[in-house]
Amino acid sequence: MDKFVIHGGNKLSGTVKIDGAKNASLALMPASLLAAGKSILYNTPELNDVFTMLKLLNHLGVKYQFENHKLELDTINITSQDAPYEHVKKMRASVYVLGPLLARYGAAKVSLPGGCAWGPRPINLHLEGLKKMGAEIDLVEGYIVAKAKKLKGADIHFDVSSVGATGNILMAATLADGITVIHNAAIEPEITNLANYLKKMGAKIEGIGTSVLRIQGSEQLSSTEIETIPDRIEAGTLLIAGAITGGNIKVYGITREYFNSLLIKLNDSGYNILENNDTIELITSNNFIIPTDVTTSVFPGYPTDMQAQWTAYMSLANGVSTITDNIYIDRFSHVPELIRLGANITVKENSAVVKGVRKLKGAKVMSTDLRASASLVLAGLAAEGTTEVLRVYHLDRGYQKIEEKLRALGADIERVKGAEY
Ligand code: EPU
Repeated sequence: MDKFVIHGGNKLSGTVKIDGAKNASLALMPASLLAAGKSILYNTPELNDVFTMLKLLNHLGVKYQFENHKLELDTINITSQDAPYEHVKKMRASVYVLGPLLARYGAAKVSLPGGCAWGPRPINLHLEGLKKMGAEIDLVEGYIVAKAKKLKGADIHFDVSSVGATGNILMAATLADGITVIHNAAIEPEITNLANYLKKMGAKIEGIGTSVLRIQGSEQLSSTEIETIPDRIEAGTLLIAGAITGGNIKVYGITREYFNSLLIKLNDSGYNILENNDTIELITSNNFIIPTDVTTSVFPGYPTDMQAQWTAYMSLANGVSTITDNIYIDRFSHVPELIRLGANITVKENSAVVKGVRKLKGAKVMSTDLRASASLVLAGLAAEGTTEVLRVYHLDRGYQKIEEKLRALGADIERVKGAEY
């Protein structure tokens, strides 16, 4: 297992390109199963969750070529409808194969994803939606066993806005008999990217980008190509790397619409934001960080996937801030590790109360999940002395070579291969 060794204190400045969005790719890849042919997904990030999804698709019979962010998927000869535990346990997004397999082959057996580092992450909405569309679903020895000769269109209302359930039902509905309407659909940009891909494949979808999606099922879809949208979470994490170290960072390949809520908060915390075409620049306007509260919510609100990074940033603010997570109420495993670096944080229910300290001090810390690891790297960049972030395989799931990007911006960070733990 690798670790990062960071000598903190350098101001990060410069320009960095944003790669394709992990959470868009993880939906676009299984969506390709809905047609028999060759699909091309441009701007696919080369990160571990994408490789995990590729292994799963390959297990189902998909052949692929992946070079320079161009992913070609050949779905002509699908040989299995089973997503085994060994693949699903590594990544919950594997459950995205359920809708497409059931819709195209009438059967799917997918391992239940189970818990996650910050508590339960149910998939009841995926299953209830598919049942409403006529699927027979049984839970057998840890597997979802789903059958439906032909799915039928249905009126589906999600009590909670869910990215994954919207994606799964949307994919399934494209090949169902009749019309499906999804009410309270997620409007995250990654879902819009997916809907646009399905539309290019020939699906009839109205309401893209809104919370009501109306899908008229088709007999079949055709393979096509699509550009993956930029990763708003990677962009946000890198901008905070600039902000927490007092530097000026420019990200390109992304526009404000993807992460306006974060840019507004960065502005409130004392940074000016300059925009030019697909470049966003952060410019220091203060020599201290203004404490700024955030509350996570669904898009276009502040994303839960940027909560841990904001907590690290606020640990050096000039006062007290409160960070509340309304999407995942237990997502605070980064807090004890940030405290080891000298942060003053108390978690009360689903909020972290952060009392800014004058400095953080390097220490050994442990990654527990993807975004928690990102927050530890950010804190390490700003801390005095040496920070070792252990178990960076969590980080590698969702960021492509982040240490190289950070180094190019002036960070003193190195990966030590096969280190302890
Ligand atoms: N929920 C239910 N029942 C369901 C599904 C969700 O109650 O059947 C609840 C969840 O417990 C949560 C809320 O609905 O409180 C939202 O969960 P959602 O289904 O939207 O999450 P997801 O689809 O499992 C995706 C991202 C996550 C991101 C969330 C929220 C992918 C592959 N994953 O997960 O990304 O945190 O949306 O925006 O798209 C990450 O990248 O680090 C990550 C965890």
